[in-house]
Amino acid sequence: MSAPLTVLGIETSCDETAAAVLRLEEGRPRVLSDVVLGQAAHHAPYKGVVPEIAARAHVEGLDGTVAAAMRDAGLGFPDLDGVAATAGPGLIGGVMVGLVAGKAIALAHDKPFVGVNHLEGHALSPRLAEGGATFPYLLLLVSGGHCQFIAVLDVGVYRRYGSTVDDALGEAFDKLAKLLDLGFPGGPLVEKAAKNGDSRRFALPRPMLGREGCDFSFAGLKTACAREVERLGAPSDQDKADLCASFQAAVLDIVADRTLHAMRMFDTVWGAKGRLVAAGGVAANAALRGRLEALAADRNYDFIAPPMRWCTDNAAMIALAGAERMRLGFTNGLDFPARPRWPLDEEAATLRPSHRPGRKGAKA
Ligand code: KG4
Ligand code: ZN
Repeated sequence: MSAPLTVLGIETSCDETAAAVLRLEEGRPRVLSDVVLGQAAHHAPYKGVVPEIAARAHVEGLDGTVAAAMRDAGLGFPDLDGVAATAGPGLIGGVMVGLVAGKAIALAHDKPFVGVNHLEGHALSPRLAEGGATFPYLLLLVSGGHCQFIAVLDVGVYRRYGSTVDDALGEAFDKLAKLLDLGFPGGPLVEKAAKNGDSRRFALPRPMLGREGCDFSFAGLKTACAREVERLGAPSDQDKADLCASFQAAVLDIVADRTLHAMRMFDTVWGAKGRLVAAGGVAANAALRGRLEALAADRNYDFIAPPMRWCTDNAAMIALAGAERMRLGFTNGLDFPARPRWPLDEEAATLRPSHRPGRKGAKA
């Protein structure tokens, strides 16, 4: 039996300033506080996240966000067992803000420090909820910055099965919204417009469909949409709805095909009954969830969709990853660097493509 661990988590790798306090007791996480300060209003005029503006907004918002998390938890810094902060991957300016703040709190209060891989936070996030996912599970992480399949086998044991070779899926949604002048963030607006559209009107490509492995590519789909917008000239609301519906239908076909391939790879580890989890901002898309749920049922998988507040960027998942690392005896020195690029499964990232899992025999 290990002693409970109470950890402050800090997240600043993209456009969410977040702090949370979590207690890990008997292997079960309990979120004591969970504060997220979004930056959408800062970035909306530019129709996308501007790294410099994000870093400045983190500087302005982080102290208050940490104070709120400590207050909500009813704790002071001396009550903590450790401090965890995202050290990457992400926008370097923002990562530095949270990392330096986390180290400073750890130093000032003589607490252990853990530098957390943001992707490990996402990988473990389905375990935050009461009765959350048990190991092992197949995670589809689809957000503005990430698009990958991760087999989460245990704490610290991750296999990246596939990822995007160009844009992340959220990025593709946001770019279409920008093309059609729908607003920011674009994903929810594209989904809304698609509800009134004809998904068969535009014949859009479905890159990677049927391809071995489970990598994604969205660049060709984005270019095809741009071409249609150019052809339309000044698209009407109905044109926009039809293009959004056609785009979303293509996305669903691509994701379903890639997920099927990932499940086959996962089956070789886990056998008959698997668990599929979708996380990241795009997992908020109801059509996508519906398609994944049906696919999972077909393959005798459980489909788990964690609460949205833990699907999108948050600090509770960073606190959980930090606490789990501490439980295993891993902490980091205050010289731990920020890593703007930091693959979760370093081995998979360094192997040549032909040697990556699921791509055996494929051309490099
Ligand atoms: O996880 P997240 O909040 O932040 C990171 O990028 O890490 O994900 C944000 C992304 C944005 O690209 C946004 O457009 C997309 O998730 N998104 C959606 C929906 N809601 C958010 N995409 C499609 N449909 C949605 N309903
Ligand atoms: Zn994220």
